[in-house]
Amino acid sequence: MNKPVFIRNAGQLVTLKGSSDAPLTGKQMEQLHVIENGSVWLEDGVIQFVGKDEVVAEAFNDRLSEAETIDASGKLITPGLVDPHTHVVYCGSRENEFNMRLHGATYMEIMNSGGGIHATTSATREASHKTLFNESKKRLDQFLLHGVTTIEAKSGYGLSLEHEIKQLEVAKTLHENHPIDIVRTFMGAHAVPSEYKENPEEFVNHIINEMIPEVARRKLAEFNDVFCERGVFTPEQSKLILKAGLEHGLLPKIHADEIEPYGGAELAASIGAISADHLLKASDKGIAALAEKGVIAVLLPGTAFFLMEESANGRKMINAGVPVALSTDCNPGSSPTVAMPLIMNLGCMKMGMTPAEVLTAATINAAHAINKGKVIGSIETGKKADITIFDVPNYVSLQYRYGINHVHTVLKNGEVVVKGGRLVCSNTRIHS
Ligand code: NIG
Ligand code: FE
Repeated sequence: MNKPVFIRNAGQLVTLKGSSDAPLTGKQMEQLHVIENGSVWLEDGVIQFVGKDEVVAEAFNDRLSEAETIDASGKLITPGLVDPHTHVVYCGSRENEFNMRLHGATYMEIMNSGGGIHATTSATREASHKTLFNESKKRLDQFLLHGVTTIEAKSGYGLSLEHEIKQLEVAKTLHENHPIDIVRTFMGAHAVPSEYKENPEEFVNHIINEMIPEVARRKLAEFNDVFCERGVFTPEQSKLILKAGLEHGLLPKIHADEIEPYGGAELAASIGAISADHLLKASDKGIAALAEKGVIAVLLPGTAFFLMEESANGRKMINAGVPVALSTDCNPGSSPTVAMPLIMNLGCMKMGMTPAEVLTAATINAAHAINKGKVIGSIETGKKADITIFDVPNYVSLQYRYGINHVHTVLKNGEVVVKGGRLVCSNTRIHS
């Protein structure tokens, strides 16, 4: 049995209380419920009590000597950050394409000439389970060092039943062997692989009739995602794929309106997707539809930054009543990063969001985007003891001192996994 942990006297402790039932929208996204001189008692992997330091100390008065005490004075405590959209399980690197883009090629040109997602698919297909595990684990360690305690991970670099299953199984093994919790999304519809180039409809049928039923039967995913974009999957194909997933219990997600307005946001609303992601070019009608149906917009300003595009209009979406979450989109082509705090900063600088809104978007709203709003994303009694401590005095400072990793301590399930900015967890292992 682990000792209880008593984190004491933070400069600010951001609770985000009262947000477990539904994502926050509009002005609610500013309401962080900050406690000055805040403390929290963690035990059995769960948050037991949160409040002003003297109140928590009084409540556990007779047990103070039992606990491991962490002094958080002058620091900021937030819920462990949540990244609701990653492609973290892959092999290979695409800095050559980055260089090509800086010489004028576009992302879609590279993909349509056999690079992009296809290049990562080749490298991922060739990799053994062990290599894929070890490569991806390095990125998970980096996520943890950036204060992230839960992520979503998609398949989509297998593009055949065998290799999609391999990717999802690796994600499952990582979840079981790394402190970070990973929720899994099947994304067989990430690209049409070269063997189906002449007959994309056949690939769509293969996804619907073979891949989705098998992934669901093996319980390898909770969500089903589609890259709905001209030249990839049409809104009609996307709808069929997302509906097939729903029939097998997989909740729909969608890569929507990234390169051009293509009806992706509208489709997300009509099908009742849990989230619509990217949305750089979403139409006003699409944004209104997301707000009406409460579909969470998962915005990825790191992707826009790295592809040198204008970001999605986060400000407009929040004003329209869309619940907004933020994510890295961690992938080797359009956003090879794990730095959620930098993504939050880009939310401020490039999408007109405030420091309070980006924190809401990277915690509780991100948790709701992966159907985990009841267990993570806020610091409230009964929730998982996932906590990040930043070495800044307040949440505005976290955005103001940009581009610096301020993470000091991370606790996952009530255990210290990062201390003084270094990994200290014992339960990560290298696949052998
Ligand atoms: O979300 N847009 C499609 N998929 C990824 C990129 C994947 C890649 O380039 O490897 C994204 O940006
Ligand atoms: Fe993505």
